Amino acid sequence: MLTTERLLLRAFTLADAPDLQRLLNTREVALNTLRIPFPYPDGEAERWISTHETHKDDHAFAITLRRTEELIGCVGLHMKPDHDHAELGYWIGVPYWGLGYATEAAAVVVRFGFETLALNRIFAMHFSRNPASGRVLQKIGMRHEGTLRQHLKKWDEYVDLECYAILRNDFQSLRA
Ligand SMILES: CC(C)(COP(=O)(O)OP(=O)(O)OC[C@H]1O[C@@H](n2cnc3c(N)ncnc32)[C@H](O)[C@@H]1OP(=O)(O)O)[C@@H](O)C(=O)NCCC(=O)NCCS
Repeated sequence: MLTTERLLLRAFTLADAPDLQRLLNTREVALNTLRIPFPYPDGEAERWISTHETHKDDHAFAITLRRTEELIGCVGLHMKPDHDHAELGYWIGVPYWGLGYATEAAAVVVRFGFETLALNRIFAMHFSRNPASGRVLQKIGMRHEGTLRQHLKKWDEYVDLECYAILRNDFQSLRA
């Protein structure tokens, strides 16, 4: 469990499934993520939450508001233990956009990655057409490393990816 000024990040439980499905069943979130389907099928939220039991290496956090306990999004680290690195991913439900929540959640997860998981590198990638995500990554201290042109196909369209990362050394310099 991780806390920030406004947020509490915790493990998902099956009780989150209805809220998860409601937040994810929006075109705006699916459009700029790779694996979230749209429309979001019945049962998919329960299935996805159940995978967390077996994916012990990965860390998926439900982002909730401390004040009301409502679920507003998700942030996670997909671990590659052989390399001491992890990929950061996140989404925020549309009603909660533009309030700094993604930045607040991503920052505390990056800190968790370096200070608790002893990672050496945390990276993230976003579709070039989604500059809001790039802003989040810049605001948490990540550096732009390059563009992968037409690297992925999303809904029958080739999309460019922007690659960002922060190293343990960068993180320590920022904290100092
Ligand atoms: C991208 C996303 C996570 C941002 O969440 P959020 O909580 O609104 O993010 P924050 O409020 O912390 O920060 C957003 C920043 O992007 C900026 N921004 C918003 N729209 C923008 C745009 N079209 N162009 C450039 N910057 C933009 C905001 O101004 C803010 O930056 P600022 O603080 O410098 O003003 C959210 O829109 C989302 O979940 N989108 C769909 C899924 C997704 O894209 N996930 C990431 C996949 S890599």
